[in-house]
Amino acid sequence: SRKRQVDETLCPFRLSREQLQLVKAKMRAGLEAGLQTKGPSAIKMLPSFVYYTPDGTEHGKYLALDLGGTNFRAMLVNFKKGMQQNARLYHKIYTIPLEIMQGTGEELFDHLAQCVSDFLDYMGMKNARLPAGFTFSFPCEQTAIDTGTLVSWTKGFKATDCEGHDVVEMLREAIKRRNEFDLDIVAVVNDTVGTMMSCAYEDPQCEIGLIAGTGTNVCYMEELKNIEKTEQKTGRVKREEGTPKGEEDKQGDGSEGEKEGDAEIQKMCINTEWGGLGDDGSLDDIITPYDVEVNQNSVNPGKQRFEKLTSGMYLGEIVRQVLLDLTRGGLLFRGHVTETLKTPGIFETKYLSQIESDRLALLQVRCILQQLGLDSNCEDSIIVKEVCGAVSRRAAQLCGAGMAAVVDKIRENRGLDHLNITVGVDGALYKLHPHFSRVLQETARVFAPQCNVTFLPSEEGSGKGAALITAVARQKQEM
Ligand code: BG6
Ligand code: GLC
Repeated sequence: SRKRQVDETLCPFRLSREQLQLVKAKMRAGLEAGLQTKGPSAIKMLPSFVYYTPDGTEHGKYLALDLGGTNFRAMLVNFKKGMQQNARLYHKIYTIPLEIMQGTGEELFDHLAQCVSDFLDYMGMKNARLPAGFTFSFPCEQTAIDTGTLVSWTKGFKATDCEGHDVVEMLREAIKRRNEFDLDIVAVVNDTVGTMMSCAYEDPQCEIGLIAGTGTNVCYMEELKNIEKTEQKTGRVKREEGTPKGEEDKQGDGSEGEKEGDAEIQKMCINTEWGGLGDDGSLDDIITPYDVEVNQNSVNPGKQRFEKLTSGMYLGEIVRQVLLDLTRGGLLFRGHVTETLKTPGIFETKYLSQIESDRLALLQVRCILQQLGLDSNCEDSIIVKEVCGAVSRRAAQLCGAGMAAVVDKIRENRGLDHLNITVGVDGALYKLHPHFSRVLQETARVFAPQCNVTFLPSEEGSGKGAALITAVARQKQEM
């Protein structure tokens, strides 16, 4: 029967408890491997040079620039000492056109500088030379809080001449080219790190940042002693332990954001880049033919395999591949493969969220499909909804299994039988999808029974966190 055939098609998306347990184990092994110095690893585990979560003493006015999945946000944040709730925020959102995402690096950074210029005009602050934090949501190899070399583009970006270059330097150059305003770029941070920091401002138990949006990624506070690869890089930090206060400041550096003297540094936030899990083939046993197709059609085949199973940029594409297959098999749309169905990118995350909403009657699902140019009857719309459900449920379960690995690692780091911890979260998939967040939380609970994990959605995005990091780094500079 039709129902049985659809079920068969969706079967590989329904992961068993054993399979999810295995994903957790692979994530854990990937985290450990990435912390070692030896060789490249699928999970990069990039040191962020952020050593503390905020403590409420941060103060002053900062500019935060946030290049995320699809938007660029500029914001001004004003922290008042000891007034957590009253950080004032002004912001403006700019979209990044596709031709800029995929043009030259110079064009991309000129565009960012132009957006900043517009924002400063809007705020009437062109001449202020504000300290700025830059949230840059791509993997960067850092050697200090204010430098970051782009390892490789992910998501939809592929601007030329950026990989292997320092993105802070590129932004500074673009601002110089404009020759119109000046900024003091103090920190560059991943969006996960910014999100963790902004949530930690409200909840001190927040030591993990999660993005489930266009892409997916996690950061968390790791014990310094476990970070083998920073052992050499932070040699300077270590050496400074013996340096009397004041001495180190003569170097005009101290940008690492240490607060009470270097001897106290015990942890550092690690940007895991967990989206790379499986790039060494370790997820091949759960990857379906539809995932293979999506990977091959992407701008970065072979890369970010976990991300391609779990994030907004790809879920709609997986759904489309399944629908294509079902249609070719005569199980959907009366067997008519239309041009619309062959169009990459038609199923944006927001449509998935709408189609899966339980408040929608099937007739409305048909309306959405109609808007997308897909003529469906009632049975078609039931099947489409089922496909969307299978794909997004798998995504949430995979992220949940991954999260279970992260929290259990932190728990073991601390030698605890039980851990209470908060995860700061952002991203459209988490915030807008009707079931993703619930399934994610349930799965994390099942696979990390010794941890009590609270998910806290970030309110102002990761920019506020970048501003906090800037504040700490700046206060250090001024000491
Ligand atoms: C935003 C954060 O709110 O969420 C960004 O400020 C982040 O830093 C983004 O990249 C992720 O969500 P999405 O859905 O836009 O990829
Ligand atoms: C991609 C990027 C990562 C980012 C994530 C969420 O995975 O590589 O740096 O955090 O998307 O935006």
